[in-house]
Amino acid sequence: MNTKVSIIGAGHVGATVTLMLAQRELADLVMVDIAEGLAQGKALDLTEAAPVLGYNCNIFGTNFYEDIKDSQIVVVTAGLARKPGMDRLDLLKKNAVIIKDITENIKKYAPQSFILMVTNPVDVMTYYALRLSGFNRQRVFGQAGVLDGARFSSFIAKELNVSAQDVKSLVLGGHGDTMLPLPRYTTVCGVPITELIKEERLNQLIDRTRNAGSEIVSLLKTGSAYYSPAASAAYMVEAVLKDKKSILAASVCLNGEYGLYDVCVGVPVKLGKEGVEEIIELELKPEEKESLHKSATVYKESIKELSI
Ligand code: APR
Repeated sequence: MNTKVSIIGAGHVGATVTLMLAQRELADLVMVDIAEGLAQGKALDLTEAAPVLGYNCNIFGTNFYEDIKDSQIVVVTAGLARKPGMDRLDLLKKNAVIIKDITENIKKYAPQSFILMVTNPVDVMTYYALRLSGFNRQRVFGQAGVLDGARFSSFIAKELNVSAQDVKSLVLGGHGDTMLPLPRYTTVCGVPITELIKEERLNQLIDRTRNAGSEIVSLLKTGSAYYSPAASAAYMVEAVLKDKKSILAASVCLNGEYGLYDVCVGVPVKLGKEGVEEIIELELKPEEKESLHKSATVYKESIKELSI
């Protein structure tokens, strides 16, 4: 294939996103991991699944960043996963060291690429990669809102016993406890969710969405969610490579939009072949805007802690 996507980190999220991208046949795929043999082993395993699953693309595993050369997109999933009792912000300093190394290598070997950040805390890591790379903000974006929206949609679908595909939801803000699910922009086949679920119950589903990552962490005990984060990342890669102009929530650096400056949080964007082609500014109610600003403040503090 002429298109190449690299995935940094061949752990749970990285390997799963690689499988999901292989099944879409969008690009040749390179997985890079620091652990010797891990990316190579998983690449081989995924290659051996191709005859059964019926995909055609090359999947290559390596420990060397030079192999990401000429990638159109680099999906960053390397880092530590959250453990029970660990907040996303606890990961901050450890993952920042990893992201610094990775971003420097992306800048060196794939200077024309887009960076799709998945590593948590994703809003801070997106900002860090943006600043370290020197890329413009159209080319560095984080996966958060697609996942949070998917979680909210899945809870609504179960509640109403309808197809999850018919539920469209919008979750803004940071990927953490301060996220901002927006029920008035959430619909089932066009019908506002506020007409279908009573406010009290809806608030419970919103709370569950805010804690959905932790709910899975406490069940798994040894790691964090990976099927839904990987699915969300693959969806975003597809939007770029197919120039879909998809409207979705992504973590991007704001420069005055929503009254916020110099911080990455989830907002609705148009994602296409130029990356973040547009940041869509919704008319938020005062209390929604306040929540978004509150969320952004948390990440601004993290940015300060890292002295970026
Ligand atoms: N370069 C490349 N790979 C690295 C580096 C590095 N500097 N440091 C760690 N890794 C690799 C690890 O060897 C491991 O294989 O990153 C991988 C992480 O995989 P997992 O531990 O399985 O974690 P995973 O569940 O995939 O989560 C990764 O995604 O959703 C987020 O919160 C999650 O930040 C976490 C990330």
